[in-house]
Amino acid sequence: MTLWTLFFKNSKILSEQFDKDPKKMMLINNIQHKNEIINIYLSTSKNINLSDLEKLCDSVGWIRRPLKKVKIAIKNSFLIVSLFQISERENKLIGFARATSDYAFNATIWDVVIHPEFQGKGLGSILVNQIIKDLREAEITTITLFADPEVLSFYKNLGFLSDPNGIRGMFWYPK
Ligand SMILES: CC(C)(COP(=O)(O)OP(=O)(O)OC[C@H]1O[C@@H](n2cnc3c(N)ncnc32)[C@H](O)[C@@H]1OP(=O)(O)O)[C@@H](O)C(=O)NCCC(=O)NCCS
Repeated sequence: MTLWTLFFKNSKILSEQFDKDPKKMMLINNIQHKNEIINIYLSTSKNINLSDLEKLCDSVGWIRRPLKKVKIAIKNSFLIVSLFQISERENKLIGFARATSDYAFNATIWDVVIHPEFQGKGLGSILVNQIIKDLREAEITTITLFADPEVLSFYKNLGFLSDPNGIRGMFWYPK
């Protein structure tokens, strides 16, 4: 288990920090990453640099989407959570997730992504748990998402059920 893993898995301080500043908060400071000292911040601001988001999505091989539409999707999302690596050299978007909602009963989580250099350190779990926490605070009880087959266990670890009571997701695509 790495120092990172230990920190992220055991820290209660994280959620206390989340409560203090809803827009931007330091998750971890002064950690060694690739020969430099970095800090990691979590932000719930919708003010995302679209080209940085495109780079992050490129890094995990996602198909590009028109930036104009991505901008609208972010603007109309209920909640955005992003993670930044901040060092003397750069300020880099390393994680992102968002949720849409009817603001009453239902919410759906979309676009959960962690940069490959930072995967496996607990950051994806922090993103999703932050979204769940904020949705629960908004008294939204039904939280859904669409999981690629290879990440089912990631979401199951976080408490998501696949096909509960036999309910199946259905899609309509233009022919
Ligand atoms: C899926 C993703 C967001 C997970 O983020 P992460 O920061 O690497 O995940 P964590 O470190 O918080 O992992 C938490 C747990 O889930 C498991 N897990 C993480 N990624 C996994 C994967 N791809 N497949 C299976 N299990 C995974 C971890 O092993 C860990 O389990 P543990 O607590 O028993 O050790 C990240 O791998 C990613 O961005 N992947 C590419 C984009 C993607 O597929 N997004 C999901 C679209 S539906």
